[in-house]
Formats: sequence, C-alpha cells, structure tokens
Amino acid sequence: MRNTNQDVKTIYRKDYVAPGYWVDTVEMGFDLHPQRTHVATRLHMRRNHDSAEKDLILFGEDIQLHQLRLNGVDLKRSAYQRNKERLIISNAPDTVVLEIETSIAADKNTTMSGLYVSNGNFFTQCEAEGFRKITYFPDRPDVMATYTVMLRADKKQFPVLLSNGNLIEQGDLGDGRHYAKWEDPFKKPSYLFALVAGKLVCQEEKYRLKSGRKVLLQVWVEEGNLDKTQHAMDSLKNSIRWDEERFGLELDLDRFMIVATSDFNMGAMENKGLNIFNTKYVLANSRTATDADYAGIESVVGHEYFHNWTGNRVTCRDWFQLSLKEGLTVFRDQEFSGDLVGNATGRAVKRIEDVRILRQHQFPEDAGPMSHPVRPDSYAEINNFYTVTVYEKGSEVVRMYYTLLGHEGFRKGMDLYFQRHDGQAVTCDDFRAAMADANGRDLSQFERWYSQAGTPRVKADGEYDAKRHVYRLKLSQACPATAGQDHKLPFHIPFAMGLLQQDGSEFALQLESGKAHPQAPRSIILELTQETQEFEFHHIEHEPTPSLLRNFSAPVILDFDYSDAQLAHLLAHDSDAFCRWEAGQRLAMRRLLKLVKSVQNGEALALDDMFVEALRKTLVDANLDPAFRELVMTLPSEVMLAEEMEIADPHSIHQARRFVRASLAQALKAEFLSVYQDHLTPGKYKPDAVSAGKRALKNCALSYLLEWSHESTYELAYTQYFEAENMTDKVAALSAMLHCSSALQPQYQARRAEVLQDFFDEFQHEALVIDKWFSLQACAPSTDVKQIRQLMKHKAFSLANPNRARSLIFAFCNANPAQFHAADGSAYELWGDAVIALNKLNPQVAARLARSLDRWTKYPVAQQEMMRAALQRVATTKGLSKDVAEIVNKALA
Ligand code: ARG
Ligand code: ZN
Repeated sequence: MRNTNQDVKTIYRKDYVAPGYWVDTVEMGFDLHPQRTHVATRLHMRRNHDSAEKDLILFGEDIQLHQLRLNGVDLKRSAYQRNKERLIISNAPDTVVLEIETSIAADKNTTMSGLYVSNGNFFTQCEAEGFRKITYFPDRPDVMATYTVMLRADKKQFPVLLSNGNLIEQGDLGDGRHYAKWEDPFKKPSYLFALVAGKLVCQEEKYRLKSGRKVLLQVWVEEGNLDKTQHAMDSLKNSIRWDEERFGLELDLDRFMIVATSDFNMGAMENKGLNIFNTKYVLANSRTATDADYAGIESVVGHEYFHNWTGNRVTCRDWFQLSLKEGLTVFRDQEFSGDLVGNATGRAVKRIEDVRILRQHQFPEDAGPMSHPVRPDSYAEINNFYTVTVYEKGSEVVRMYYTLLGHEGFRKGMDLYFQRHDGQAVTCDDFRAAMADANGRDLSQFERWYSQAGTPRVKADGEYDAKRHVYRLKLSQACPATAGQDHKLPFHIPFAMGLLQQDGSEFALQLESGKAHPQAPRSIILELTQETQEFEFHHIEHEPTPSLLRNFSAPVILDFDYSDAQLAHLLAHDSDAFCRWEAGQRLAMRRLLKLVKSVQNGEALALDDMFVEALRKTLVDANLDPAFRELVMTLPSEVMLAEEMEIADPHSIHQARRFVRASLAQALKAEFLSVYQDHLTPGKYKPDAVSAGKRALKNCALSYLLEWSHESTYELAYTQYFEAENMTDKVAALSAMLHCSSALQPQYQARRAEVLQDFFDEFQHEALVIDKWFSLQACAPSTDVKQIRQLMKHKAFSLANPNRARSLIFAFCNANPAQFHAADGSAYELWGDAVIALNKLNPQVAARLARSLDRWTKYPVAQQEMMRAALQRVATTKGLSKDVAEIVNKALA
C-alpha cells in the first residue's frame, strides 16, 4: 500500500485552501446488496471564486467508478485525472451538475469506515473521511450541502431503511424489493451522512419539546435487545431537556434516531438525525450492565445529541479544528452528567472522575511521542487525532473559558457563537473570538492553549508574614518542550484557590491591604498570565493551609511543598471536594513512590499510622457522600505511578501498591466490614448516582477485604457473586476474586475457575458481558502472556470485532502493566502480532493498539531494547496502513 520506507505524507494546517467548488445539493440513490452496492450520486456544484483552487477536486477510495457525467455529458477518461485518492477535473465550468456512478463491496469492508456490513445489516461511518469510500466527493468538512437519499433493498433481508433527516416517501418496488426516500433539510458536511439498512426493531416515543412541538424519538437495535433500550431513551430525553434549559438549544428535526451496532470503531457518531452507536453505549439492563455502563450511556447519548448544535449546525472548517466540536461537546456532556446528579457533591464526584481520566490518559499522551496541541498543526492520518488531547484536554480548555467568564458570561459567548456561525464551518479562533467579544475581554493570550502542546507545571510557594498578617503566594509556570516546540510562552491560567484556617474554616481573601473585609470571598480565581506572579493576602491571622487549583481550574501539574500535616488537614476539612480528594491522593502517592524504592532496594516495607488514620477518618465519615469516600480510598493507579518515576518499574510499582492495599486492609478490617454491611442496596436496582455511589463504596470495601487473604472474606465475595441481583455487584465480586491478593492463593483456584465458568455459561449470548469476561481476565495480576494467547484461541474471541479485541488485547497491554512488561519481552511480541494482524483488518483499531508502546523510552534499557525491536518489526511490515505507520514512526523518531 505504501512505498518501501513507509513514509507517510504529512498534511499541514498552514496549507489550508478553501474548496474550489461548493456543493449545494446532493442526491443519492443506493441499490443495496452486501456484495455489490450500486451508488448513483448527483451533485449541484458551483465555483468558489474566492478560492485559489481552480480545479474541481473529488476524493475517492476503494470504490469502483462506472460513470461520470458533467452537465449531462459523459466524461471520457482523458477528461479527468484519477489516482488512488483523488479525481481531478480541470477547466470545469462555473456551474456543474456532476453525476457519478460507483459501486462498493460492503461485505468485504472490515475497516468499519465507509459502508460496511455488521451481522447482516448495513451501517456507515463517515467521520472523518469515510464518505469518500462511498462515492467521489469533495469530502472535507467545509463543504456543506443538503442531501436527498433514496434507499432500495430486499424487503425480507432489509426491512428497515434509514438515513438522515425526514422520511418523505416509502413503498414497494415489486420483485421483493422496497424503497425509502429521506430528505435532510439542513446543510451538512459529508462526514455527517449516514444510512442504516437491515433487520432492526425500535423503541419509540413521541416527545414534546419545551416549545410544544412534538418529535419522534427512536432507539433501534437488533431483535432480542428491546429489553435494554430504556436507559438510552431516558438519557436522550434528559439530553433534549438539558440543552433547552442550559443553552436554549432546541432539537431542529421532527425525528431523532439512535441505532446500535456491535461492530464499531469508536463510541458513537453524531450523524444528523441518525446517530449510530456502539452497542456498548446503548444496551443496558440491570442484569447485563454495571453502574459505570449506565453512566457511560448517559454521557455518550448526551454527547452525540449535543453535537447536533456543537458540531452539526456549526461545524469545523478543517480537521485541525476537531476540538472546536469535540472539546466543546465533551465539556457539554460533562456538565450534563454533573447537572443531572443534582447536588454539589455529586457534581464534585463527576469532576474528580473526569480529572482522573485526564491525568491517567492525557498527561501521558502529552509527555510522549504523540504529544500534540489541542489544535494540531499537522497529521498523516486524521483518525489518529481523535485523542484524549483533542477531546479531554479540549474540554478543559473550554472549561477555562467557563471559569474565567462565569456561568452567564460563558452563556453569552455561546449565544454569540451560534448567532454568528449557525450553518457555517469555522475555526477554534472563531469560538475564542465569540467568547471574548460577548464579554468584552481580551483572550489573545488564551490562544496558546490551542497552539502549545505539553502539560504546564505551576509551582506555588507560600510564605507567611506573622507580623504583617500577610500570606504571600508566588506562582510560576513552565511547560516542557514537546515535539517541534522547544520553547513555550506563558499560558493564561485561571487558578482557583482558598486559604484554610486551623479550625478548617476559610479565611476571607483580600488582595488589598487596609481595612479588613470579612465579607470578601473565601474562594477566588487568580489569573496567572506571566511566568511568575506574586499575590498578597491580607488580614490572615495565622499561617493558613493553602487549598490550590480548586476544582482543578486548569489542566496543569501543581507543585507545592505540602507537609503531611497540611495534606491531612485539607483531606479532613477542605470545602472544595476536588482539593480534598487531591490531598488524599498526594498522601498516597508520596508513600507509594517511597515504597517502590524500598521494593527495588529489597528493604522491608512499612506503612505509617498517620496515613492509615487519615484514610480511616474518611472511610467511616457518614457525613461524606459514599461515592466520594470510594474515590478517596482508591489509590493512584499503576499507570500514574509509572508516570511519576524517572524510570518506570512496573513490577515494583505493582508490589508497592499491593502492599499498601493489603496494609490498609489489615489495619481497617473492621471498618471495611461495617462499611460493607452498611451500604448494601437491597431491592430493585436503580442506576442513579446515589445508589451507584453506595455500591461503589461497598464494592471498594469488598475488594480491600480480599486483599487480606482469609477464608471468610473470600466467602463474602463468593456469596455476593451468586446472590447478586445486578451486574454491578456480580462483576465487583468476580473482579475482587480475580484481582486481589487472595486471588494469588492456590487454595482458591477452584473457586475462581468455578465463578469464571459460571459467568461465561450464564452470559454467553450477551456479547457485552462476554467482553467483561475477557477484560477481567486480561487485567488479572496472575494472567500472563501465555494465558492471553490461550484466550485468543477461545471460541468466543474474535480480532475482527473491535469491542472484543479491546476487551482482551487492549486491556492486557494497557491495564496490566506488570504482566505486559514481563522481563522476557514476550508480551511485546504479542502486541506486535496483534497490531500486524489488525493492520490488515482494521487500520484504525490497529493504530490505537500501536499506541500501547508510546512510553517505551520510560523503561529500563533492557526493556527499551525489546520494545524498540517490537516497534521496528511493525514499522517494517509490508502493507502497513498510514494509520499504524504514523504512530510507530513517531514512537521511533
Ligand atoms: N464524532 C464522534 C464522537 O466524538 C467520533 C467519531 C470518530 N470516528 C473516527 N473514525 N475517527 O462522538
Ligand atoms: Zn464527539
């Protein structure tokens, strides 16, 4: 596929040129046959006189071209140029009607991009550049057109025919075939095109909008799954209402459809009026889905729905602007989930979970070979840039506007954004301008959050002047060099903070000297714009404990030299739940890192009482939200520990973390037991945040209890497994039995085998549950490479199904570091085998897996050598896709 040195062409943001032609209308006719689908397309095009591009340029990939007609005349082969990626017509007139006939073998399409077949049904995925695998088209997001789509197919095999917008006609064609005609009244870029055809059933409901208008909502699934659609439907209705209330944005169509497929590369896709979802983010009932699954469905349904305005009505000018829609829409779905909980601690819990994801995944990305700005400057394959940086850091960037401008100010900015840009394809700069102009603010420095990669570090130093009653806070910022960016300029950082008194209350924060203002706020947002700034707080009667970067007000790493006593004070009292949790994490991180050293030096391990006592207080504090207590009790992950070390040592990290968990289990046995008993949630399963929080705390207690290897605790999990009435409790029991210290005890071997078999037998027809079955084993500390290879031979395993591949191979490579980094390098070989095999089937998924070695330079030299060899083996594989080539080339650069 590529030339021998596997170089891939790089595309640069600075090279943007407006399209030579606009497309006003698109008419398409599909004759759907799995082996050969015929597509007839008619485009009404007109020259864009403002463009430097004079040719008419269409993109096309892996399609057969049968006919090309321009203004009614057949184009001879000499009238256009064509290569593997494009079709170019020079000297075309200003107004063009282009008719194109193509055909596609959808059943052979294993990439899940373009038109493909899953379980006998047709689906499409066109973002980012899949439409060009259906027909020749100026497949770029700044070309927006209205679409009319005619679908024809066999009636029995494909009784349901769906596309974007409104159904305007349907009927019989005789000969066993039927048709449906769809019209989307809104202009859209081609990446939002979708069609679905097959045997599907739906749950539907007429829903009344705030304005009184009635709309039809549908959730389409395969037969047999209608008992799992209610939560998605509820989430959709909640999303519609939330966007009306919070942003004044109404659903603009008469019909809104969600369709679930078990073969999907990502989470879901916001095609106009016809969202296509991975089943993982649609199907749920208490028997098959966990609390986390329920929460995931709510946020992804929200996310895709919110795209209807942030992404569809206002879209991206080019793919470098991807975060314009993704960062903003992630921010919106995070706020939606937070608002839906309906109380302050619930919001804080959601915030902490989101920060945890950012730190666990985005910080490492930003420190590795794939580091890129929120608005990248270049790419070889755009699908590689659907990253945690574009999504989650992008959301943090949007959240900083919210923090700087306030609730109302942000809303004003959003209103102006839609007022200016509805129906347009725009840039991140346009969004920033709307925020600035609506609030009369200068946000030019803020631009650096889009253009500079890397995680900034903010160093804080505090000094108390007892004579003057002044607390001086010095803040400095720096950002490490990243690929192609050696020197960074200072960021505009909103820095929220407070000062705690000895009794745990907060000082009034007064930046001017003079008379005391006891009514001054207790929490403020400082704006750090220089490399170094100093702030003086007056009338501070005694030395305070600073509570810094409240609610994680900026995506930075904060360095402050806290004493253990200060951290314990914050953990016990801070009114800011994020900082409170953070204090506990810092206490834990400190100890874990020291213990890793002790493990490495073969020293005896010990855990201090002060730490145990601080956690005990939180664990048993009935005034605290159970969900929050669970977060505090969860130690920083092995991945996060590795990031904190100069040279990562997965085996010592695993032992150190295991030791701390076992020590806590020993010391707090009685507390864990009573917490366990106190948080049982008998009765009918409800997925709401309060019930979920109780289950989370209870199951956290259970997992600690099993760190303490004892017959009675193992019995507890065993009983919970068999008596559980919902998947959350069942999986938690199974996970504790497989993952905790006692899982390594041979005397429980038979029990483990028994529950694993039982679980498989009970759920073998529930694909999403079998994914869990694979994942649980992939992440177990006792599962080695050999066992993974064994599991790959299991009759239920398939590399071609992305969910299944992720559940076993990705889980092992990303979430079982101690085994993945086995000293003999055997897991790197497994990784290479899987990447190479996936590369042929599905380049997008292969490229995701390829990223598991991103951090290879962080490991001891011996491991590095083996990882480099594995990367090189992949890099020199024949027929490497540009997706995988870009990732491994960057890793090796
Ligand atoms: N826009 C979708 C979402 O964020 C993601 C689709 C990405 N697909 C892809 N093949 N890169 O919800
Ligand atoms: Zn999205």
